[in-house]
Amino acid sequence: MNFFKQMASWCATVSLALAPVVIPGSAQAHGELTLEKPKPNVAATPPMGWNSWNHFACNIDEAKIRGAADAMASSGMKDAGYQYIVIDDCWQTSRDTNGKIVADAAKFPSGIKALADYIHSKGLKFGIYSDAGIKTCGGRPGSRGHEYQDAKTYAEWGVDYLKYDWCNTGPANAEASYTVMAMALRDSGRDILFSLCEWGDNHPRDWAAKVGHQWRTTGDIRDSWDKSEGYSHSLLEILDAQVDLWRDSGPNQWNDPDMLEVGNGGMTDTEYRAHFSLWAMLAAPLIAGNDLSKMDDATRTILMNKDVIAIDQDALGQQGRRVAKDGDYEIWVRPLKGGDRAVILFNRSAAAHDMKVDWETLDWPAGLKADVKDLWSKAVTKNAKGSYGASVPSHGAVMVRVTPKT
Ligand code: GLA
Repeated sequence: MNFFKQMASWCATVSLALAPVVIPGSAQAHGELTLEKPKPNVAATPPMGWNSWNHFACNIDEAKIRGAADAMASSGMKDAGYQYIVIDDCWQTSRDTNGKIVADAAKFPSGIKALADYIHSKGLKFGIYSDAGIKTCGGRPGSRGHEYQDAKTYAEWGVDYLKYDWCNTGPANAEASYTVMAMALRDSGRDILFSLCEWGDNHPRDWAAKVGHQWRTTGDIRDSWDKSEGYSHSLLEILDAQVDLWRDSGPNQWNDPDMLEVGNGGMTDTEYRAHFSLWAMLAAPLIAGNDLSKMDDATRTILMNKDVIAIDQDALGQQGRRVAKDGDYEIWVRPLKGGDRAVILFNRSAAAHDMKVDWETLDWPAGLKADVKDLWSKAVTKNAKGSYGASVPSHGAVMVRVTPKT
């Protein structure tokens, strides 16, 4: 049964790759590419966790992944809301004679199920990586043609989260390919969060929300303020690509501007504070990408700023947006449940600058009084009337929560 289903999904992918031609007798012609089962409700707020790629790339093994789980549980990150430990590319080597995916036995000698059990024993959730093509970006076996089989394997292992990449997909249709894996996951018997990683290349805003829980909007992030290189993009370049996407996201469907670089060493602490603030403003998944076993105090303080995390996790689920831009000076605003606003005064320039947000920019009357909490310094300004201003450091973000007085 599973074999036929897998063949049907394979045909569907191929036929949609050649859309709009519908091959008679194909899964598409039979309407099999419909997502009959509902998307599990596992991302009411943006997912929070850790992923191995940004720091370790392919240099992973079970000791490092266990170490990340240990650190997440003991550092306070778990208490701050981080949940998922996600292994990215390079955990897999081949398929066995039955086509079942095989983990690298030298690097993961206890096997993936034992690793998942260990992560679960810490009260955390476990995520894994695959690719919609023949091979992953790192040249390991992808899931093309094995979607149902792989989804079943993930469910057996106790996988809670799948990041699904887009390398080596040839002429395949992205919506169809991701839909097939979504069908397979929903058929697997386990609720698995589906994280789409096709880099925003195929208009995911038009289809990704029905397929998965989060979707990448750009190519890969780079641990740099403003220097992009090839397919990896600086923080500022990624940020600028998010400006018009705020309508697309909401509970159980999040824009993903890629994982965090906080703590990886390529930016200053001020820049990392801006990075974390802006990701919270964007209602982005907060997936740490540093070595959790070796965090300095500044990194801990950034990743565990509960006030900023509360903005990211706000139950209204409305992504913030840029409401003003004057050269290097920007104001970003996010409406919050209950009527508060999160505001970022963002200074991209090489010098500190005095900046101010007027209440009219927040859609409030100028005469309104509001309490303003600086989410980094923790200073509270009571009864601010009409506006709030602050000196913003170079490459910095002042992030505040503004509570109107009734
Ligand atoms: C792509 C993805 C990255 C990472 C690598 C792994 O580049 O966008 O996030 O998963 O592949 O090879």
